[in-house]
Amino acid sequence: MSLLKTVAASHNNVDNNMLPSTPGKLKPEKYQPYNHYMIHRLRLSKLTLWSSIFLAFILFFFILSPPSPSPAANRRESWGGHHWEKRVTKSACRNSDSGFTVLVTGAAGFIGCHVSLSLKRRGDGVLGLDNFNRYYDQNLKRSRQKVLSRAGVFVVEGDINDAALIRKLFDVVHFTHVMHLAAQAGVRYAMQNPHSYVHSNVAGFVNLLEASKDANPQPAIVWASSSSVYGLNSKVPFSEKDRTDQPASLYAATKKAGEAIAHSYNHIYGLSITGLRFFTVYGPWGRPDMAYFFFTKDILKGKQITVFEAADGGTVARDFTYIDDIVKGCLGALDTAKRSTGSGGKKKGPAQFRIYNLGNTSPVAVSELVRILEKLLKVKAKKKVMVMPRNGDVQFTHANISRAHRELGYMPTTDLETGLSNFVKWYLDFYSPSTKNPASSSSSSSW
Ligand SMILES: *[C@@H]1O[C@H](CO)[C@@H](O)[C@H](O)[C@H]1NC(C)=O
Repeated sequence: MSLLKTVAASHNNVDNNMLPSTPGKLKPEKYQPYNHYMIHRLRLSKLTLWSSIFLAFILFFFILSPPSPSPAANRRESWGGHHWEKRVTKSACRNSDSGFTVLVTGAAGFIGCHVSLSLKRRGDGVLGLDNFNRYYDQNLKRSRQKVLSRAGVFVVEGDINDAALIRKLFDVVHFTHVMHLAAQAGVRYAMQNPHSYVHSNVAGFVNLLEASKDANPQPAIVWASSSSVYGLNSKVPFSEKDRTDQPASLYAATKKAGEAIAHSYNHIYGLSITGLRFFTVYGPWGRPDMAYFFFTKDILKGKQITVFEAADGGTVARDFTYIDDIVKGCLGALDTAKRSTGSGGKKKGPAQFRIYNLGNTSPVAVSELVRILEKLLKVKAKKKVMVMPRNGDVQFTHANISRAHRELGYMPTTDLETGLSNFVKWYLDFYSPSTKNPASSSSSSSW
């Protein structure tokens, strides 16, 4: 959005500075005869016409260009008003006094949608927030929104960077918890659009923390970090105590920055903060930019898929974690979160600060992933094996979850084949020709 605005603004400048709206601004030289001036005027208006067409073209292609992950690139969100506030309050209303009131950011996203539904089902008040950006198929996000709406969860359309909106939400609702899942995801896309990572994962997070520390009472915060913070760390399984100072992608770097920022807000303002390092989460309603998702799509289409192997011929493997297990981990983190100790921007005492791996503890090779998909889809994949480019993806992930097990009661129970079977069932249903939900192509991909 901001980029579009900048371009539009600079076009306006061009317009103002170089193409005066009235030819009168360009004073004709005194010695010019009148008809000379008319010709000049004619030329000028032609120039204006062609310039306008040119600018229109540029804007047109800009709008058609690859998805901008920035908030709703083509329109401004409206929020506020009596009706809007009523919907917000109703959605955030909990069933019992002991329930939570949770703001879920990224609620129309994959994990956000599942977590929101689980919280709502057990009686907590849930308010969603999502900017519905175009990083991937918006239709999928809209469909998730419909599911949420049916369950009584209202998803406010807006950006975590919108300070006025966030303050308004905190004014209208006293959140006991913030489940912060909004982020710019994807590892390789960071090379195409680096700023969107800083915008969402750093600036947006700070904006949310600012509103949270000012709130009275302050909410407890649980947020999505990532297993990618382990970066080039080669000691497996990854444990929370391992080094995380060698990120292999900008995505990982912004998540690592988020962990450092979270610590500072915990330290200065007494915010209770829990970071969850997710390991390759998959399942129904998943993200189309992830390998299991677009492999499924391409295998069904008979399109060749690229299977990566490591430079030394070694396996590329992931600790695939099923969405239902992740949701249990998120709820476990919310349930065990202690209260923030500050209020109105002032710390009153030390507050809880935690970080957990949420993985499955059993890495699966990408070749095995493909084999399972072939079996479930009953289609043989056309594979092209390639050495994995060094543009952000790491070779291997494996979570040590003993801390999450001990402190959150987290214990994943879904193996990859079972989880993928559920995913494939959902995929075939969601993208069946009758539902007219064509999977949109994705220019970038990630694990
Ligand atoms: C996992 O981490 C715990 C500490 O949280 C450690 O005691 C244990 O040895 C680790 N397990 C493995 C297999 O490295």
